Amino acid sequence: MSNIALFASGNGTNADNIIRYFQKNIDIKVNLVLSNKAEAYVLERIKPYTIDSFVFNSNELRNTNIVLDKLREYKIDFIVLAGFLLMIPENILNAFPNKIINIHPALLPKFGGKGMHGMHVHHSVIEAKETESGISIHYVNAKYDEGNIIFQAKCSILPNDTPEILANKIHQLEQQHFPKIIEQVVAKLK
Ligand code: GAR
Repeated sequence: MSNIALFASGNGTNADNIIRYFQKNIDIKVNLVLSNKAEAYVLERIKPYTIDSFVFNSNELRNTNIVLDKLREYKIDFIVLAGFLLMIPENILNAFPNKIINIHPALLPKFGGKGMHGMHVHHSVIEAKETESGISIHYVNAKYDEGNIIFQAKCSILPNDTPEILANKIHQLEQQHFPKIIEQVVAKLK
């Protein structure tokens, strides 16, 4: 049995989808959702599930062991960032080597880095007149969006596509692929 923790800062559609996917899985359990925002909608979304949540602030994440201690308390084996917008600090990176993954809503290494999240990414992709975008699932290291890529999936961008239309295409790809990739990566841990 592997215990997964989800880190999320926002809407939580990925967190919700991941929790639902693993609900009946006997080998993988999502047993903690962590957020740096007490008002994040993800915390509303997970209410129907019996999963504990933990809210912390950026100082607690960066300068204390409060978050790491919580991960240890819940015997977490693997961490998934699902729309989490802060950097993971060294104490957690060191405790979870190659056991933290993130999803990014573009084809890295393009359109990554600090400030590149959510709709900002889709606006930049459309402005750059790209003809395709997609999702990148990658390991997390000390730099934004630079860890080794595990998986990418693409979608095409039509000439009249708006950032909102692109966001919807990316959302579909995330829903389709993210839980399956988590399952594959976690299966290789054992
Ligand atoms: C997702 O599209 C995810 O790829 C993106 O934030 C969104 C969160 O949506 N992540 C980043 O931009 C990370 N740089 P959600 O809260 O509905 O899952």
